[in-house]
Amino acid sequence: MQRVRFKRFVALLAAVAAGLAGAAPVLAAGPQSLLSPAGPQSHALYEALTWDILFITVVWIPVTLFVVYLLIRFRRRPGDDSLPRQVGEDPRWEIGWTLALIVGLVIMVLHPLPAEAFFDRLPRGDKVLNVELVGHQYWWELKYPEQGIVTANELHIPVGTPVVLKMTSADVIHSFGVPRLGGKNDAIPGRVTRMWIQADEPGVYQGQCYQLCGASHARMLFRVIAQTPAEFEAWVKSRQHPVTTPQGDLAAKGEQVFRTTCAACHTVDGTPAQGKIGPNLTGFGTRTSIGGGVLGNTPENVGRWLSNPQAVKPGALMVIPKLSQDQINALTAYLEGLK
Ligand code: CUA
Repeated sequence: MQRVRFKRFVALLAAVAAGLAGAAPVLAAGPQSLLSPAGPQSHALYEALTWDILFITVVWIPVTLFVVYLLIRFRRRPGDDSLPRQVGEDPRWEIGWTLALIVGLVIMVLHPLPAEAFFDRLPRGDKVLNVELVGHQYWWELKYPEQGIVTANELHIPVGTPVVLKMTSADVIHSFGVPRLGGKNDAIPGRVTRMWIQADEPGVYQGQCYQLCGASHARMLFRVIAQTPAEFEAWVKSRQHPVTTPQGDLAAKGEQVFRTTCAACHTVDGTPAQGKIGPNLTGFGTRTSIGGGVLGNTPENVGRWLSNPQAVKPGALMVIPKLSQDQINALTAYLEGLK
């Protein structure tokens, strides 16, 4: 019996270690922590959390010290079998304790309400940037309706601007959240949900799907790239006038591979490739990550992905025929040339 238990324990440890090793290649653009807030929502959450911890500490420390004092002061001494003085029936104490408890709980329940109202109030006006999100197994489609841009997985936003996210899902329930910038919300098939985020400082903020959505849920990553308004405008311009002509012979060969192998599922704006099943790949070469944020965007990683997407991301829905190394090199050159 002991041996079986030990074996199970070892198997469990091995599974956890394998999981951690598997998660190692998953890119993180920085901590996904509420403890380093970078936007007005996360600051409000951080304040609520700090207040909670202070309140709990202020109650917990005196209560614990008092209990320890009582345990020592009124411990049973040798030879003393008498009952201590019975005080439990004093209604003043009982009402006092109950009221203190109720007041404490009510304060704890009520004090985060202003923060919640702050999240729920969607900002309006012309200073707001509207983005539409569609969750897919296992990546995010991003649409900027006013700018006419469709992209994936890397949400560019200008700092100091409230961004209203209107989201839904193409398959199962996903959940969007970037802890350093705000709360999170579900993307539900057949429904539209909304939330808003804002970044105060330029930077890259890591996000993640927060709803178990399938085998590669943990690899459904996401990053928000907050830029100065001028940089953001430049990014919008570059997306509206993308570079799609292949540079060099290798990339030109890659374009042919793309037309026959990838174009049915992927779009590159301004080319005949208009597939709508997978992510829009316009400007692919300017992205920092690939595969839904799982790998850094390097030619080696793109080759790795193209040779077997499911090895990188188990359960990925991308279907690709077996390509020769030459075809992979050409396709990689074409994709990396899309700016
Ligand atoms: Cu999408 Cu979890």
